[in-house]
Amino acid sequence: MQTLSTIEALRQARETCRRQGSTVALVPTMGNLHEGHVALVEAASECADIVIATIFINPLQFGAGEDLEAYPRTLEQDQAKLEAAGCDLLFTPTNEMLYPHGLEAHTKIRVPEVSEGLCGASRPGHFEGVATIVNILFNLVQPDLACFGEKDYQQLAVIRKLVNDLHLPIEIVGTPTVRAEDGLALSSRNGYLDAGQRAQAPELYRTLRQARDSLEGGAPADRVLREALARLAAANFKPDYLELRRTDDLGPVTDASHEAILLVAAHLGPARLIDNIRVALP
Ligand code: PAJ
Repeated sequence: MQTLSTIEALRQARETCRRQGSTVALVPTMGNLHEGHVALVEAASECADIVIATIFINPLQFGAGEDLEAYPRTLEQDQAKLEAAGCDLLFTPTNEMLYPHGLEAHTKIRVPEVSEGLCGASRPGHFEGVATIVNILFNLVQPDLACFGEKDYQQLAVIRKLVNDLHLPIEIVGTPTVRAEDGLALSSRNGYLDAGQRAQAPELYRTLRQARDSLEGGAPADRVLREALARLAAANFKPDYLELRRTDDLGPVTDASHEAILLVAAHLGPARLIDNIRVALP
């Protein structure tokens, strides 16, 4: 695997792929890679000839008081994991390359509706930052397809809408959430948990599973959500939201004919954890 640290080197590599007739899959990340990222690279290499991963801790998607400075930076381990997973090229741009005039002055992409509510409500500007950087990476890499995890379900929905609305010729591939054996969704932010909090953390997914079973058994949504929130609070979580939404546009579920998904965000000690589960309403 080759690491490309300039835009010029990336453009040359992309041009070589084009000349050779190779299809290109993009896997954007912020580094500190785990098995969830590895699964994306593996899915990408099944769908395209060449896999290009990116590592860039995007300052534009972090709010004031969030963990931009604390976000773990582990480039050497990440390179080894990417190489082992079958990644061909890694692009590692800097803030100065991507935002040469600073964050404030940079052109932004806002994706209405699907960015609002859920994480968009508690993290103002977050999805504008995500849509902007992903659009920049799409323009630089010009991939045939790009892979994103269903763990960040709202992010995936925002990117699908971005691609649709701007008619970008890129196929978006969503991949299932990779979990630890105890059910906790893998996340770079799990590293912020101490041993006691880490032992509590799987309660998030256990609560989602129990709520899903109750909903699928026909229990009323308002009662199920209320009980699930109480269960989380009893396990030391400070929930941000727990909501049942449509899987496609994340709009409100008005009848059982829509496919539904239960989405949660909750603070546990220093970490803000998110997760989701699909629900087949009766
Ligand atoms: P990051 O959190 O590094 O995640 C990179 C990709 O890995 C995202 O598509 C995310 O959904 C996926 N991912 C994370 N944990 C996963 C898990 N347990 N199972 C499956 N996939 C998982 O998401 C971002 O970075 C950024 O917002 C980014 C898209 C790179 C834009 O800056």
